[in-house]
Amino acid sequence: MINIQKLNKFYNTTKVLDNVSIDIQKGEIFAIVGHSGAGKSTLMRCINGLEDYSDGSLKVNGKEIKELSKENLREFRKNIGMIFQHFSLIQRKTVFENIALPMQLWGYSKKEISKKVNELLSLVGLDTKLNAFPNELSGGQKQRVAIARALTLDPDILLSDEATSALDPNTTTAILNLLKTINEKLNITIVLVTHEMEVVKQVAQRALLLEHGNIIGFDDTEELFLKPDEKMKEFLGETEVVPNVGINIKIYFPKDNVFQSFITKMARELDMDFDIVWGKLEEINTHIVGNMVINIKNEHKEKVLHYIKQHNIIWEVI
Ligand SMILES: Nc1ncnc2c1ncn2[C@@H]1O[C@H](COP(=O)(O)OP(=O)(O)O)[C@@H](O)[C@H]1O
Ligand SMILES: [Mg+2]
Repeated sequence: MINIQKLNKFYNTTKVLDNVSIDIQKGEIFAIVGHSGAGKSTLMRCINGLEDYSDGSLKVNGKEIKELSKENLREFRKNIGMIFQHFSLIQRKTVFENIALPMQLWGYSKKEISKKVNELLSLVGLDTKLNAFPNELSGGQKQRVAIARALTLDPDILLSDEATSALDPNTTTAILNLLKTINEKLNITIVLVTHEMEVVKQVAQRALLLEHGNIIGFDDTEELFLKPDEKMKEFLGETEVVPNVGINIKIYFPKDNVFQSFITKMARELDMDFDIVWGKLEEINTHIVGNMVINIKNEHKEKVLHYIKQHNIIWEVI
C-alpha cells in the first residue's frame, strides 16, 4: 500500500532521510519509532505529499507521489487523514464545526455533512459534545475530535504524528484502543509516529526504528521486543548484566508457550538446579511474550542445550 524504496531527503546539505526502504501493507498498524530529530515527521510529510524528497521512490497505492500534478495531489491527500500531538483544532469553532470542516472545503451538502459528522461523533464517543468548544474539552477529547475530523473524507490511510505524546498514560491507552477499533472496523491502514515504546507495544503489528534518518531495525513488534539487536537494546536502554561464571542462556518465550512452565519442567526432568538471572514478561499487541536468562554450570551445558533444542525453544548463549 505504501512502498518506499531508497528514499533520500535533504534539507539544504543535511541528509535527514538516508536510504529508507519500507513496505507498509494494507490494513496494518505500522509504527515509526525514534528519538526526537530522527526524521520521523519528515518521513510522514513525504508520505502525504506535503514534503518533497530528493531521490528514491515513494508510492502510495501504486502512485509515485512526486509525479502527481497539483490537482492529483489534492485528490490524493483526501485519501490520507492526519492527526498531530497538539490536535490542531480551531478554537472558535464547535466540535461539530471542526469535524465538518474538511467536508465543507470539498463542497459536500449540509445533509451529507450532518450524517457523517454524527456517525463519527458516535464512533469516537463524543455524541454529547457536538456543541462544545475545544477549550471545554480534555486532551483526550480534543484528540477524539481530531480523529473524527481526519476520518470525514473516508481515507484509506491514517497518519498519526505523536498523537498521544501530550496525553497521560490512561488517556493514551484509550486513544490507542480507539485507533485499533478504527483500524479493525473501517479497515484503515494506520502509520503511527512515536518516540514512546509503550505506544508501539500496545498497538503496532510492525515497527521500524529510525535514527538520524537511517532505518536501524525493522520487524514484527513482538520480534523487535523479544529479540532486540544491539541498536534496539540501546534504544530501549537495556543492558544485560550477567554472571561471569558458568554459562548464561537466554530463552525466548514466543506467544504460544509462554505460560508453560518450561524452566520448572526442565529442572525436574533433568534433575538440575538453575539460577534465573533475570526475566521479563511483557504484553505486546495483546500477546504475552518474554525472555529469561538462566545460569548453569559448565558441565551441564550439553545436557541443557540438548533439552532446549528438543523443545523447539528459541535460545542463545550470552
Ligand atoms: N523544514 C526544515 N528545514 C530544515 N531542517 C529541518 C526541517 N524540518 C526538520 N528539519 C531537521 O530534520 C531533522 C529531522 O526532523 P523531524 O523529521 O522533525 O524529526 P522527528 O520528527 O523524528 O523528531 C532534524 O534534524 C530537524 O532539525
Ligand atoms: Mg516529529
